[in-house]
Amino acid sequence: MLLKDKVSIVTAASRGIGAGVASVLAREGSSLVIASRDFAKLEKLAKELETRHGVSVIPVKADITKREDVRRIVDTAVRNFGRVDVLAYNTGPPKPGTFMELSEEDWDYGVRLLLMSAVWITRDVLPYMIERRQGRLIYITSSTLKQPIPTLTLSNVIRISLAGLVKTLAYQLGPYNILVNGIMQGYVDTERVREVAAARAQREGRSVEDVIREIEKEIPLGRLAKPEEIGELVAFLASDKASYITGSLILIDGGRTLCV
Ligand SMILES: NC(=O)c1ccc[n+]([C@@H]2O[C@H](COP(=O)([O-])OP(=O)(O)OC[C@H]3O[C@@H](n4cnc5c(N)ncnc54)[C@H](OP(=O)(O)O)[C@@H]3O)[C@@H](O)[C@H]2O)c1
Repeated sequence: MLLKDKVSIVTAASRGIGAGVASVLAREGSSLVIASRDFAKLEKLAKELETRHGVSVIPVKADITKREDVRRIVDTAVRNFGRVDVLAYNTGPPKPGTFMELSEEDWDYGVRLLLMSAVWITRDVLPYMIERRQGRLIYITSSTLKQPIPTLTLSNVIRISLAGLVKTLAYQLGPYNILVNGIMQGYVDTERVREVAAARAQREGRSVEDVIREIEKEIPLGRLAKPEEIGELVAFLASDKASYITGSLILIDGGRTLCV
């Protein structure tokens, strides 16, 4: 097991990529705090993971756009486990839309969802990592950092600052043996992607499977990723095997993004 006896936090974990990451970290032996807004879903996932993998999993109801909720996530981890070894930061998806379609309120929410939540949880978790001179910060972002998607304005504009955060923290935290990396995933087969495909299918009078097939044609590996495949990368970066990787933004997209 890569993460035996480690303590990890996974945010936005009730479904999709976050749930996939949580399940791989649990399989690798990590105790977990999982957080999102839907407590019933989190509780169900926590019980499943505890039963399947014999680790301790604590659900925390938290909206990561709210400062006090973010504080509660780290407090819960420290109160129950005494430390945090790994932060696997994931968020909900931002509102799609072109620049002119978005309101100032959308921007405000987008900045809290995709940037301030990362700043807040990093501030909260760092003192515990610095004190122990070890830690892994892993920011799950998007391949839009590398290749913007024209109608995902909030994602394209705000997430790029996470690249700056990863690089800056890697520099500043290296002396404390805290390794900082980002993950840029492409299409992952989640409820969210299926919902977006369904909306497009309805607009264009096609089937959802037809829309998904079209997306898959742009991917050299010919399929979407499974959420657990993102989890495998997070587990590796969180493990002792990744002891010399920091300040990196790693693309995991089945080969879709071809720019270097
Ligand atoms: N799937 C893809 O192909 C893909 C590709 C690139 C990037 N991404 C990005 O990766 C992230 C996860 O995507 P996904 O496909 O897994 O999405 P998803 O299936 O919609 O899951 C989103 C998760 O975020 C949580 N969440 C949403 N808003 C939240 C908030 N304010 N506070 C706390 N938790 C919140 C949701 O839980 P609750 O409802 O319980 O709060 C849920 O667990 C998103 O940022 C997405 O834009 C996805």
